[in-house]
Amino acid sequence: TAPILRSLAELRDLTATWKRAGECIGVVPTMGALHAGHLSLAQAARTGCDRVIVTIFVNPKQFNNPEDLENYPRTEHEDAEKLAPLGIDAIYVPGPNEVYPSGFATNVSVSGLTDVMEGEFRPGHFDGVATVVAKLFLQTSADRAYFGQKDYQQLMLVTRMARDLDIPTEVIGCPTVREPSGLAMSSRNLRLSDEGLIKAAQLNPIMQDVVQALAQGGSFAPLAKQARDRLEQAGFTGIEYFDLRCATSLEALDTPTRPARMLVAAWMEGVRLIDNIEVPKV
Ligand code: PAJ
Repeated sequence: TAPILRSLAELRDLTATWKRAGECIGVVPTMGALHAGHLSLAQAARTGCDRVIVTIFVNPKQFNNPEDLENYPRTEHEDAEKLAPLGIDAIYVPGPNEVYPSGFATNVSVSGLTDVMEGEFRPGHFDGVATVVAKLFLQTSADRAYFGQKDYQQLMLVTRMARDLDIPTEVIGCPTVREPSGLAMSSRNLRLSDEGLIKAAQLNPIMQDVVQALAQGGSFAPLAKQARDRLEQAGFTGIEYFDLRCATSLEALDTPTRPARMLVAAWMEGVRLIDNIEVPKV
């Protein structure tokens, strides 16, 4: 199994050796509670890089809800076991002081991209993400970083952040891994009942139907209204957003005149679920 490193000093010793040997370093940032979605990122890194670091840090700065932070699953031992067969080189599990030492006062904030959707419904969340990801890129000195399209807005945000700050880490987006039912894998799915899981699985087919209607020339507003009604019938309670947006700038669109993305956040049994899919340009 891969060594678990808990301090920045240990991590730097290791990465310095790799850098001297001219090796390419890949990083997969996570908050643990690993599932097949996370493991697919580690696999992509394993294929694309000489050295792979998986980081596990439940970042307090990105939780806008203290209860969510407290309830977030912490399963380090199981996580290490799941990573073992992948042959990664190190697991970095920094203590809070390695990331936010006393007196820490810097905030990384990306404007525009983060004002809508997740940014609107989870105030402060993306500043927490941008700050910790900037630190993880610099701490690991990674050449490449692997993120899931599952968190599409986050993927756009970290891409922009690295570019804007001249951090030489290339951000690579990887496809969303789904349950056979089509439900996007998420550590939050564990909180759903069996019935909730069946209901939640309707989200993706409803989104697919809208994509098909858009391909036939439909405009988004009436299709979104129908889709929201269907989601409510399926048992979703609060639909926070159901949007069609430009795939890169995240500007709202009514028809996919450019490569686009459809993104949704909705609640099922008190669990907040998000999903998004590609919408081809018409
Ligand atoms: P976390 O939710 O643990 O997710 C870690 C990475 O796994 C993210 O890039 C996320 O998009 C990806 N991921 C999650 N579910 C996935 C799925 N079903 N298919 C493919 N990839 C999936 O996202 C975070 O942690 C944090 O915000 C973090 C970036 C680590 C910063 O704290």
